[in-house]
Amino acid sequence: MGNTINKPRGTNDILGINKKKHDELVSQLDSMAMLYGCEKIEVPTFEESKLFKRGVGESTDIVNKETFDLVNKGEHDYTLRPEFTAGINRSIIENKLYATPDLPIKLCYYGSIFRYERPQVGRFREFHQWGVEFIDQKVDLLTTISCLSLFFNQVKKILNINPVLKVNFLGSFASREQYKIALKNFFIPHIQDMCGDCRRRLEQNPLRILDCKVEDDRKIIIDAPKVTDFLSEEDKEEYQEILNALNALEIPYITDDKLVRGLDYYTGLVFEIYDNDHLELGALGGGGKYGKLMSVLGGPDFEGIGYSFGVERLVLAKKDDKTLPYDLDLFIIALKKDGLDGVLKTAFGLRELGYKVSSASMSKALNGSIKMADRKNASFVLIADDRGYHLKNMKTREQIDGDTIESLNIVKHLEER
Ligand code: HAM
Repeated sequence: MGNTINKPRGTNDILGINKKKHDELVSQLDSMAMLYGCEKIEVPTFEESKLFKRGVGESTDIVNKETFDLVNKGEHDYTLRPEFTAGINRSIIENKLYATPDLPIKLCYYGSIFRYERPQVGRFREFHQWGVEFIDQKVDLLTTISCLSLFFNQVKKILNINPVLKVNFLGSFASREQYKIALKNFFIPHIQDMCGDCRRRLEQNPLRILDCKVEDDRKIIIDAPKVTDFLSEEDKEEYQEILNALNALEIPYITDDKLVRGLDYYTGLVFEIYDNDHLELGALGGGGKYGKLMSVLGGPDFEGIGYSFGVERLVLAKKDDKTLPYDLDLFIIALKKDGLDGVLKTAFGLRELGYKVSSASMSKALNGSIKMADRKNASFVLIADDRGYHLKNMKTREQIDGDTIESLNIVKHLEER
């Protein structure tokens, strides 16, 4: 082999059992979303750069430092999507999906996301998000709680864990502006002792300082003013109603007044979910309500609420399911050309019935082929050799022999498993 080429840093080849787990998870997320009346949507992998600048916010790390911007060949600047929400809202406006009497619109989506971050456990430069966006003229309590309970239950039921749900309430843009001023005033006397990122954030967006992970900075941040102190009476009431509904549904949560999220469009409720046994992965998912995104993007004055999971993180956190179904129903080991027609017909017939059938290379020795059937997680093996036909149950290792394939009654054995 000559000069080989490796994948770019922070990207993954998703293969083997990992690919299987990944796809299974996505299909479980889809199925549960269908129970809540969601419809699937797909949007482009890249969009005009200004969509993310305007939608997500130029002062966010995601847009300011982490975008993959495409080399420009025309009049537009394009960026690989660093998140879905802006693109979905763009699509709702462009396709006039909002002009429906059937509100709220409930959409779910899945695909690659690109962020130029420093790779580490659970943090990649290309990863996959699965998420939902619920859109209405005004996002009411029922829609909010439907969204939150889907978020919580997907993690709890699909991952089979007890997740930690964190919530906070950011209020309107106006109250956020006041809060930013208060934060700025609080941090100014400390800023010389804080990290370079915090110094930059003080000027661009002091909210982001609350996310800083530097130990010494955290000691200062702990005494910073709280966003909840800047909420209007109306906001406080809305927040309390949401918490009451969560209590009534017995969805456990923690209120975290330092949870501000890394995207600028949030107004109102924000939330994230964690696995206590995998805190090193960071949040498995996060989201919140956005009251002005649609109008900022030139659409009607509609609101939205939604969230996204990092699918790779979900796969890493998922407790292994010991009852994974068989990958193959029958694995064929044909050691002779003679009678191959009958073997092929059997395979085709089983596939017509919906059974999964595969085979080993004919040149492979019997022992090696049996091991291969195990590795392929096959339920039964059909061996055709000079002594006739043999059906081996790979779980019990029992084998029955016959002169013809028909005498083995393969379908009956498959049905009776
Ligand atoms: P986000 O918190 O930026 O929110 O990302 C959502 C999830 O994506 C995170 O909780 C995490 O699981 C995963 N994630 C983020 N960065 C990485 C990375 N570098 N590698 C692997 N996984 C990662 C959003 O993107 C919002 N658009 C969510 C939303 C939807 N808000 C409203 N609607």
